[in-house]
Amino acid sequence: MTSSNRSSSIDQRVIIFDTTLRDGEQSPGASMNLDEKVRIAAQLEEMGVDVIEAGFPIASPGDFEAVKRVAQTVKRTTVCGLARATKADIERCAEAVKPAPRGRIHTFISTSPLHMKFKLQMEPEKVYQAVIDSVSHARRFTDDVEWSAEDGSRTEHDFLCRCVEAAIAAGAGTINIPDTVGYAVPEEYAALIGMLFNRVPNIDKAIISVHCHNDLGLAVANSLAAVGAGARQIECTVNGLGERAGNAAMEEIVMALRTRHDRLPYVTGIKSESIMKASHLVSQITGFVVQPNKAIVGANAFAHESGIHQDGVLKHAGTYEIMTPESVGLNRSKLVLGKLSGSAAFKAKLKELGIDLGDNALKDAFKRFKDLADRKRDIYDEDIVTLVEDETLRASDTLRFVSLDVHCGSKAPPKATLEMEMDGRLLSATASGDGPVDATFNAIKELFPHEARLQLYQVSAVTEGTDAQAEVSVRLEENGKTVNGQGADTDTLVASAKAYVNAINKLVVKRTRSAPQALSA
Ligand code: KIV
Ligand code: ZN
Repeated sequence: MTSSNRSSSIDQRVIIFDTTLRDGEQSPGASMNLDEKVRIAAQLEEMGVDVIEAGFPIASPGDFEAVKRVAQTVKRTTVCGLARATKADIERCAEAVKPAPRGRIHTFISTSPLHMKFKLQMEPEKVYQAVIDSVSHARRFTDDVEWSAEDGSRTEHDFLCRCVEAAIAAGAGTINIPDTVGYAVPEEYAALIGMLFNRVPNIDKAIISVHCHNDLGLAVANSLAAVGAGARQIECTVNGLGERAGNAAMEEIVMALRTRHDRLPYVTGIKSESIMKASHLVSQITGFVVQPNKAIVGANAFAHESGIHQDGVLKHAGTYEIMTPESVGLNRSKLVLGKLSGSAAFKAKLKELGIDLGDNALKDAFKRFKDLADRKRDIYDEDIVTLVEDETLRASDTLRFVSLDVHCGSKAPPKATLEMEMDGRLLSATASGDGPVDATFNAIKELFPHEARLQLYQVSAVTEGTDAQAEVSVRLEENGKTVNGQGADTDTLVASAKAYVNAINKLVVKRTRSAPQALSA
């Protein structure tokens, strides 16, 4: 089939395969715990993602458990696990995705000369046989098998065609051609996909997928070019998270297809209005702040600073806005509630924000809202979301922040007195430090001695104004394991203490789990 008649006859629906929980988690420092992965998966399902790659089950018991929990939680979306081309990997993966109403095994092996020779140290014929064996083995557990040619974009065409044909013949319904090292340029990558359509005889029996890394900043462009050449699945991540420079950003793919439908006549099943919510959730959980000028989800993506632009937008938004902020779920900060708002108004607002709380949680959240309203005059949508999220984060903490009293300024060294609940006991410690944050963290160390290194301390404001809530992320590292903690409060130091204590709680859980094996994918 030639590319021209193919584009008029094939379906224009593009499958969105999200790998935030797998490739995204491979970003150094972006570790997520079990509950956090389940929360992200629920958000991905809610926004209409077709396939969630939930992890690499053989990598560690934690990865296995996460894939299994996501498989147990998600109802409509396909849940996928990654497996190398070995029986052990595939069987572990099959077990993890088994509870899912729709489960997929994604098995892969490198096919480029460089990877086969140096990484796998395998002859091409052995790799070819492994493709057949791995796909056939995976098909014993599920009808939904995806096969990936790792480093596909640097693979010799003849060999790639042979492997793709063999994988399809062995039963793979999806064939993924990754640009593993982000080396391809759009025209070349589209030609590679077109070449497969022209040369692989059974190609019509599979969906062709693309998985692009962003080392040259071309991941989204390459993915879109491949769709033009016939690919119908894009593998991507929220906020472009992923190995090294990351993967293609889901929000950019979705909005490019939506905004430039005239030139890119393809559709996804994503509710674009959920994009900001997903972006914020992933950023908050991983501690990976979105750069302000990031396309679609950056804080400045819809901000107009220059007078000329502001004037234009006021006269007609289309002068400088190619998509509406609302289309990505960015509702202009709305003043919602204040000190005098009652529980009925609070409940109605939660409903409007899509937040569903049980009776007890609702009572607690209302109490915290009243406390917040005492300290902050104007309460915005973002404040309510943060307030609810902050409590969700702490729900399973065994060490709990209770109170903080800090003395600082230019006259005396800073001193922090912290109260923390540990195993039901209220403990208190006072410490000094190089600044108020250092003193606060030292007080935590007095109560809970540890050797973990602080890798990241980051503060952002939830809304504008000096009375805004501060959202703090803390990343700790201990023996190669990293955890991210979060906290929010109108007081930056309280938010910092909450974030540090949250990170310590995660570290304690992580210490009890065995270390992940070093795996490459
Ligand atoms: O980048 C890559 O090649 C991958 C594969 C495992 C799909 O992540
Ligand atoms: Zn990848």
